Amino acid sequence: MKTLRESFDKSKYMSYKQDSYFPAYDKILRQFVGRPITIVEVGVLYGGSLFMWRDYFGESATIIGVDFNPEAKKWEAEGFKIYIGDQSSEKFWDGLFKEIGSVDILIDDGGHTNRQQIVTLRKAVHHIRDGGLLIVEDTHASYMSEFGNPSRYSFISFAKRIIDHLHGRYGGDLVAAKPPARQIFSVEFFESMTVFTIDRRLTKMSEFVTNGGISSVTEDYRYKNSVLEKLRNRTWKGHRFIRSFYKRLIWLELRRQNFLTKSLFNKIDV
Ligand SMILES: C[S@@+](CC[C@H](N)C(=O)[O-])C[C@H]1O[C@@H](n2cnc3c(N)ncnc32)[C@H](O)[C@@H]1O
Repeated sequence: MKTLRESFDKSKYMSYKQDSYFPAYDKILRQFVGRPITIVEVGVLYGGSLFMWRDYFGESATIIGVDFNPEAKKWEAEGFKIYIGDQSSEKFWDGLFKEIGSVDILIDDGGHTNRQQIVTLRKAVHHIRDGGLLIVEDTHASYMSEFGNPSRYSFISFAKRIIDHLHGRYGGDLVAAKPPARQIFSVEFFESMTVFTIDRRLTKMSEFVTNGGISSVTEDYRYKNSVLEKLRNRTWKGHRFIRSFYKRLIWLELRRQNFLTKSLFNKIDV
């Protein structure tokens, strides 16, 4: 099977992509090659990537380009569908999806501002078919002063909020406060690129299941011989004030452990 890099090099018109994208794209896009999918790319510029997608996915794929620059319309003569509009306009997206319906893949390689990337994601996520992908390129913009970053409103900050909401499906004590994400099955981070897999069939509230196998009497060693084990044993007996006192000590011990973890957290050498 050909690589996306081969299709990129073959394209007659110019395209700009970060070289680290190619192995990531081959990993996530192979499943769509040769299928009659619909793909939207925001950001047409010189047109080169439209030809790359056509070569990579095959003739049965419908390739749609979106750009703010009306000049992009010229690529319709080559058989692509082109829509002109501002990706930071919610109205633009409403109109577009009304016209084109659901799509399989949306790639955001437009203007890369926080607002553009966030509006695009918020709007497109409702119009991507189950099993489809929403890909945001050049997410290094979230770390660039040119884009007003770092900011708590950067695209990557937004993606981190989605991670919180994804864990909201579990329904644990603190995560339950986050409304669960209902369209997004998974989030993958690559260098400068974030990929959301959309699948509503797989995003129901999770529940614990057992395989019904034989359970032998085996102790869980999570807290074995630790301060926590001793404290936990004290929370099961005695007056409720005593029990809540030991629960408070557990809380303090967990905070102390977090503090000790701080040095690991601050040193990223992975
Ligand atoms: C990085 S280039 C696209 C490169 C192309 N995808 C490629 O791979 O070669 C960015 C494009 O996004 C378009 N763009 C910038 N801001 C936009 C916006 N708000 N809405 C739609 N398109 C926008 C620009 O006109 C430009 O053509």
